[in-house]
Amino acid sequence: MANEPVVTVSIEGDVAHVVIDNPPVNATSTAVRQGLAEAVAAVKGARVAVLRCNGRSFVAGGDMSEFDAPPVEPHLPDVVQMIEDSAVPFVAVMHGNVLGGGFEIAMGCAWRIATKGTGFGLPEVNVGLIPGAGGTQRLPRLIGMDAAIDITCSGKIVKADEMLALGGIDIVAEDLDAAVTDFLADLPARPVAVRQRDVAGFADDLLETKRVALTKRAKGQQSPLENLTALQWATEPFEVGQPKERARHLELRQSAESRALRHAFFAERQVAKPQAIKGATPRDIEKVAVVGGGLMGAGIAVSALNAGLNVTLIERDDEAAKGADERVRGLLEGAVKRGKMSAETLEARMRAFRAVSDYAEAAEVDLAVEAVFEDMGVKQQVFASLAAVMDKNAILATNTSYLDPMQIFDGIANPDRCLGLHFFSPAHIMKLLEIVKTPHTSAEVLATGFALGKRMRKVSVLSGICDGFIGNRMLTAYRRAADYLLADGAMPYQVDAAMRKVGMPMGPYEVQDLTGLQIAWANRKRQAETRDPNERYVTIADEMCERGRLGQRTGKGWYSYEDSNRTPHRDPDVEALVAEYSAKQGITRRTFSDEGISGRLLAVLANEGARIVEEGIAERDSDVDIVKLHGYGFPRWRGGPMRYAEETTLKKTKEFMSLVAVESPNSWIIAEKLNAV
Ligand code: NAI
Repeated sequence: MANEPVVTVSIEGDVAHVVIDNPPVNATSTAVRQGLAEAVAAVKGARVAVLRCNGRSFVAGGDMSEFDAPPVEPHLPDVVQMIEDSAVPFVAVMHGNVLGGGFEIAMGCAWRIATKGTGFGLPEVNVGLIPGAGGTQRLPRLIGMDAAIDITCSGKIVKADEMLALGGIDIVAEDLDAAVTDFLADLPARPVAVRQRDVAGFADDLLETKRVALTKRAKGQQSPLENLTALQWATEPFEVGQPKERARHLELRQSAESRALRHAFFAERQVAKPQAIKGATPRDIEKVAVVGGGLMGAGIAVSALNAGLNVTLIERDDEAAKGADERVRGLLEGAVKRGKMSAETLEARMRAFRAVSDYAEAAEVDLAVEAVFEDMGVKQQVFASLAAVMDKNAILATNTSYLDPMQIFDGIANPDRCLGLHFFSPAHIMKLLEIVKTPHTSAEVLATGFALGKRMRKVSVLSGICDGFIGNRMLTAYRRAADYLLADGAMPYQVDAAMRKVGMPMGPYEVQDLTGLQIAWANRKRQAETRDPNERYVTIADEMCERGRLGQRTGKGWYSYEDSNRTPHRDPDVEALVAEYSAKQGITRRTFSDEGISGRLLAVLANEGARIVEEGIAERDSDVDIVKLHGYGFPRWRGGPMRYAEETTLKKTKEFMSLVAVESPNSWIIAEKLNAV
């Protein structure tokens, strides 16, 4: 198999057939580029060359594993131009996805025919790049500047019908083979090559408007703007614009942003395959029970229904069951209103759902996930009731945020079937799922958790047991460090601004106001008993809660909110409270620079993440990154806190962490990884 050609050419009459076969998605690896270059020579003499791909997709992008090394000849832009210049005109016949290099190849062809549903796009922006084989130069010439900006700067995928309407392809067919046969039988005159067409640029003011809008949306990421700039080169002659695009593409491959985004891309693929499930086969899951139909339970039920599962939701009594039923329907109706779901699908989902108050209804389910009150006694009672009616091997899962699953499952027979499935709110939308392993959980049960997560389209991360698991433990450390900054001289608005400046969508205090301060407050009370008395404990947040400042829902939190408007306003009462706290503690308040604030808080995140890995709670640094990217809004273009620490250098991270530790003695344990630097 090793030397099987990835591109083959066969001649039938006066038609040459060029077929790419490079599973899984026919990426433009060196072998494919080489094969295509040879194919252009091999089709000589034919009337037309038909370019297709085997497998599930047309060429769906470049081979990112080649991006860290210097590019190898033949380069894709040259191959595309060879196709475009070939005496034998090429027709691209496409299915699946036509992305990045694939779309660039298709634009080099004289004609483009696609099956219905085929997706087109230039997603390079998503990995911090601009296209490198003429994408930014040909697309505006093909479909106009406005549409090209829309597609290239967002990285979105446009379906064949829309691409046809934009003039980017010639034919959309239900029956691709028949369409190709008809097309070849009556071949139209060869159109002017795309690169030789003209495109009108944008007036300066319009361009500026686009730039401002993109900057706002990009939240610090540069690649959308890089793409906008490159697209404007299309108004220059192709011979000028194309080399500029190529040079910039190669430069950007080395950029911190692109490396971070590629890290995220690969980390997402790796996280789904933890060592702990190696070789294990997941069980089939068809029927699940969700116990508790409040905020989380309803969201989990919707996630399961959308994954095609049959869901029985168990509530405390009939009235609560009715409420849960309405909540689930409400969430589905929300999807219908947003145009994400049809009314028929909603009804089909509801037919696979029932909300009841009798545990006996869970007798037949393969897996039950509990999302009742965060109370040990209540949760233990729930699992005892479930275990009494379910099969002795059926899987039992808890959605607890902070309680110890070992204690929750204490006394349950066959504890190898017990695990945590920790969803994030809102559970039907948030991608992250922490799959919590107890010392007893079997590999098969864990693998089933991962398979379920995949079916629900979640990004699942394996976590061991610790207070808060991976994500909330890091959040707790982050907030603790931020509160130390308040006590020592910063104000909430300043901490928030500093964190937004490094790319966080919101600062820590704005987030608390949004989600509410009460859960963390309850947690701090719970932890009070076991907290090391020598650890620094700042009571500002507690005092806020005691005054009823619980966040947006109460109209006041770290900020005040007027007229139920969600815009935060600085509140002199909060600032007085903070200053009084420092005075009471005898602290002389000092100023912190934005870099000082973000440097400290990011170091604390990296330090806690490293400890989590060192303790074996997470398998790898990149798993920690994925938790922060998908559950806590950490900017993807920074790659996650662990990746960011490597980027800024571990030395710098250690310096900040040492500072944090000195400023608040007895409050931090420095990770071995940083100590070793
Ligand atoms: P919630 O208070 O909105 O819902 C709890 C539901 O459980 C209520 O509808 C209640 O009637 C029901 N319930 C209570 N005891 C029951 C019993 N014995 N049998 C059946 N149903 C019972 O609470 P929420 O926010 O949905 O949280 C549920 C769990 O999910 C908690 O363990 C929480 O820590 C966890 N969690 C919460 C997150 C959040 O952002 N709210 C995020 C991730 C996990």
